[in-house]
Amino acid sequence: MKETSLDKIISLCKRRGFIFQSSEIYGGFGAVYDYGPLGTSLKNAISQRWMKAMTQMHENVVGLDSGILMHPKIWEASGHVGAFNDPLVDCKHCNARFRADELFEGNPDDGNWGEIQCPPCGTTGKLTEPRQFNLMFKTHVGPVEDDAAVAYLRPETAQGIYVNYLLVQGAMRLKIPFGIAQIGKAFRNEIVARNFIFRTREFEQMEMQYFVKPGRDEESMKSWKEERLNFYTDKLGIDSAKLRFQQHGEGELAHYAKEAWDIEYEFPFGWSEVEGVHNRTDFDLKQHQEHSGKNMQIFDQEANEKYFPYIIETSAGLNRMLLAILADAYWDDTENDRIVLKLHPSLAPVKAVVCPLVKKEGLPEIARKITDDLKSNFKVLYDQAGSIGKRYYRQDEMGTPYCITVDHQTSEDQTVTIRERDSQAQDRIGLDKLSEALSAKINDFSA
Ligand code: GAP
Repeated sequence: MKETSLDKIISLCKRRGFIFQSSEIYGGFGAVYDYGPLGTSLKNAISQRWMKAMTQMHENVVGLDSGILMHPKIWEASGHVGAFNDPLVDCKHCNARFRADELFEGNPDDGNWGEIQCPPCGTTGKLTEPRQFNLMFKTHVGPVEDDAAVAYLRPETAQGIYVNYLLVQGAMRLKIPFGIAQIGKAFRNEIVARNFIFRTREFEQMEMQYFVKPGRDEESMKSWKEERLNFYTDKLGIDSAKLRFQQHGEGELAHYAKEAWDIEYEFPFGWSEVEGVHNRTDFDLKQHQEHSGKNMQIFDQEANEKYFPYIIETSAGLNRMLLAILADAYWDDTENDRIVLKLHPSLAPVKAVVCPLVKKEGLPEIARKITDDLKSNFKVLYDQAGSIGKRYYRQDEMGTPYCITVDHQTSEDQTVTIRERDSQAQDRIGLDKLSEALSAKINDFSA
């Protein structure tokens, strides 16, 4: 089978410790992935950048960390118990399972399922009619597994923000408009999970809910759309030609949305959603007031009135964002027979590696000292294993932007070479200037 560029990314992720299939020694566990040392570091760098863009760069946006398990009535109120479904179709011949929209474009109820061919086995007339399948994972709280003990793993982080929004507003003395940002795990029992970490059953969301006066929602939607798209180019360094907005049509809108736009990235498997920007109106807050019997309206002191704010939501998948960054950075440098991850230095898990040219003549000691001197400022590694060329290429695959080489000249004039990952250009620099020069290169980004 031909290796696709997604296969190449998957194999690099495993080889270099970015991402592993969950429970591999047991044959893997469907659509769950574990993040290795480099993946964890990259994921943290992305989420910190997102949180900074939201809460540090906006005085009126604050953070929250709500629980994964919440009162089950929340999911009845939000509509997830009743409406968070995907239409599921089975093939009675080969037992393959599909989301109906994978086989038929448009409303699944309009599909002539008796005439649609099953893609894996090629049989016609064996597909079942679509039936609704709820995507929430159910569990039980406490020792008794009865209906009264049912709880759900949250399928979105948003509801934790809605049910806390008045507490946050009061505690932080926020005036409308204001936002609440949260990063956390979400779970969906996806029927078909594929394309590596793109669609998984356990994933992380970075969601921000912006509460505005009704009537101000459309202008707020416009400005958040613009800000969110710019984040990908200006703060993550993603190629703008590979990004676009797609609007949800009437039939595609989620049950809570009045208007919705996807930010899409051109992945190796085609254009696909990384983030949604939604106008959720006052749907969720009204629902929570009705189901909890508690006031969910805000008192707007300036306007001297009480109302349900409208909510503009920006909802990004951290794992999908990471996949977009990896896909954008992956470079098959065939001319030099190497694979390079052109990660922006500020996102790269390791900023520099220090290599003694040979394992003798005092060079390892100097290289160790340089590593120790730099490590309080950046993540640096020491590497003396293998030829210098092999060491460079290993770091290229990890996305390490700089290789510092200690050679015989170092002991004579206190200089080292810095090799830049993408151009492979080498500069000589004095040890006294090394830390400062690296800082300038790594932080040279408007993040
Ligand atoms: N609160 C709104 C909401 O959850 P969504 O469009 O269903 O909206 C938002 O999800 C984002 O969460 C998506 O754009 C995607 O990045 C991420 N996401 C959703 N389902 C996912 C899955 N199964 N695996 C990985 N990421 C997912």
